[in-house]
Amino acid sequence: MILWALTLLLAQSPVLDFDYYKTNVEPIFLERKAGFTRCVVCHSDGGRVGFLAELESGAEGWTAEQSRRNFDAIQRLVVPGDPLASRLLMHPLEPEAGGDEFHNGGRQFSSQDDPWFKTLVAWVSGETGE
Ligand code: HEC
Repeated sequence: MILWALTLLLAQSPVLDFDYYKTNVEPIFLERKAGFTRCVVCHSDGGRVGFLAELESGAEGWTAEQSRRNFDAIQRLVVPGDPLASRLLMHPLEPEAGGDEFHNGGRQFSSQDDPWFKTLVAWVSGETGE
């Protein structure tokens, strides 16, 4: 009985959708929000928090192979099926809206209704409609 329940639990943990990531999530890291620096500027320097590949000079986005590497690196920052336990979502979120402690890159998600935040929720929840 316990084993059965465990199997059910594990089976419910969604597998993150790469195509949705590539089309909807990755552009967030490249886009500029008024008053903020773009994620890619601070998160592609290869350091401790460098979860994005460095863009090739002049490139406006990542190659398919780089996107795959970004996708893999970001796994460390998300809990499939549990957006509110995912650092990728909670760290840039305004603390008054539930975000966690200080983020050097600012509170780029002003609330849980922020379109970027909602895109990330859909992705991490596995509710990508694909
Ligand atoms: C001005 C530079 C800067 C920008 C822009 C920036 N960040 Fe950060 N971010 C940091 C630094 C520095 C840290 C590590 C120190 C800290 O937690 O503030 C960090 C930490 C994080 C972490 C935690 C990483 C870990 O390994 O635990 C996440 C997730 C994150 N940022 C996401 C984002 C997202 C998403 C964006 C764009 C919406 C963004 N950041 C924009 C500088 C930035």
